[in-house]
Amino acid sequence: ARNYNISVIPGDGIGKEVMPEGIRVLERAASLYGFTIAQKWQDFACCDYYVKHGQMMPDDWKDQIGKPDAIFFGAVGWPNTVPDHISLWGSLLQFRREYDQYVNLRPVRLMPGVPCPLVGREPGDIDFWVVRENTEGEYSSVGGKMFPGTDREIVIQETVMTRHGTDRVLRYAFDLAATRTRKHVTSATKSNGIAITMPWWDERVEEMAKNYPTVTHDKYHIDILTAQFVLNPDRFDVVVASNLFGDILSDLGPACTGTIGVAPSGNINPDGTHPSLFEPVHGSAPDIAGKGIANPVGQIWSAAMMLEHLGEAEAAAAIMRAVETVLAEPGLRTGDLKGTANTAQCGRAIAEALT
Ligand code: NAD
Ligand code: IPM
Ligand code: MN
Repeated sequence: ARNYNISVIPGDGIGKEVMPEGIRVLERAASLYGFTIAQKWQDFACCDYYVKHGQMMPDDWKDQIGKPDAIFFGAVGWPNTVPDHISLWGSLLQFRREYDQYVNLRPVRLMPGVPCPLVGREPGDIDFWVVRENTEGEYSSVGGKMFPGTDREIVIQETVMTRHGTDRVLRYAFDLAATRTRKHVTSATKSNGIAITMPWWDERVEEMAKNYPTVTHDKYHIDILTAQFVLNPDRFDVVVASNLFGDILSDLGPACTGTIGVAPSGNINPDGTHPSLFEPVHGSAPDIAGKGIANPVGQIWSAAMMLEHLGEAEAAAAIMRAVETVLAEPGLRTGDLKGTANTAQCGRAIAEALT
């Protein structure tokens, strides 16, 4: 049955502008590769919905989403209207937790012909995956505020790491590395300063590594790791990190390839008990929203990751070839990559390059 049901949630700002390009390319891929994609669009999980209803999503959002094969998401957040922690904890972070999407998989790849901000780097020098823990860690709701508004004010937010939650994301990272040519895992740590959780994280990495004799591994403290991303990106193959460290690394990595505008992600529930969610790494970009100039490649590459996840590997590979063809042309890529095209021109060019 090569008929897929997807839930489409564009969100806010440029999420609404890049989503149609993602859909355009998906539909073209479906018609060329002989499968169908039924779309159910949702108007919630965006700040307009919050303004109308006082919450980001309806109480029965799970029922409304139903049981799609995947969720295709844009970006959420409009800080002028809704504080970011309200809009994000009321939408995207709910999805990640409620659907137990415990892996956030984020590729970092320098594409041919794209101007690289790191001098002298070629495609192949930057080609790795960030595997980010996506349901616990520093993003916790354990904590609180005491004596608010007084000079005794105290705020506490606990990092929560479980053996179950840590081991499963480490296992995913090592499994992924085992499929790659270089078979190398780098772990992001900070066990010198964060002296309870991070030494424990390092121990879990060592334990997991024992199951993978063909995979090599090393670790860097997060501070020097950010420097190594810039100075020696060719050292990396699979980088595994806690929720916050992985968040930071997955903006830094793509920036080293020219822009965060191309970066995709899969919020994956590997067990398949819940839908996985595919979205660009970037946010709603209020500074450029409404101008039609956002780079649609992050959304389109996310569509390719979604198709790969659904088992349509050939169509996914075809989308990536089309993306590479278009990104190599300054006239077809967007301004963040020193190109001259707008969002729709770039998206259309990718759909047309698809074969
Ligand atoms: P952002 O990713 O929205 O933007 C950062 C910078 O990158 C901006 O200058 C923006 O113009 C640029 N940029 C981002 N995407 C681009 C694209 N496709 N093409 C060209 N340029 C692009 O991050 P921010 O400014 O920190 O956050 C803005 C809002 O988005 C906030 O509400 C934030 O919470 C939210 N956010 C949401 C997500 C998500 O939905 N997954 C991710 C990050 C931020
Ligand atoms: C991301 C985003 C989110 C995160 C924000 C918007 C909560 O930055 O998907 O990387 O921190 O996970
Ligand atoms: Mn982020």
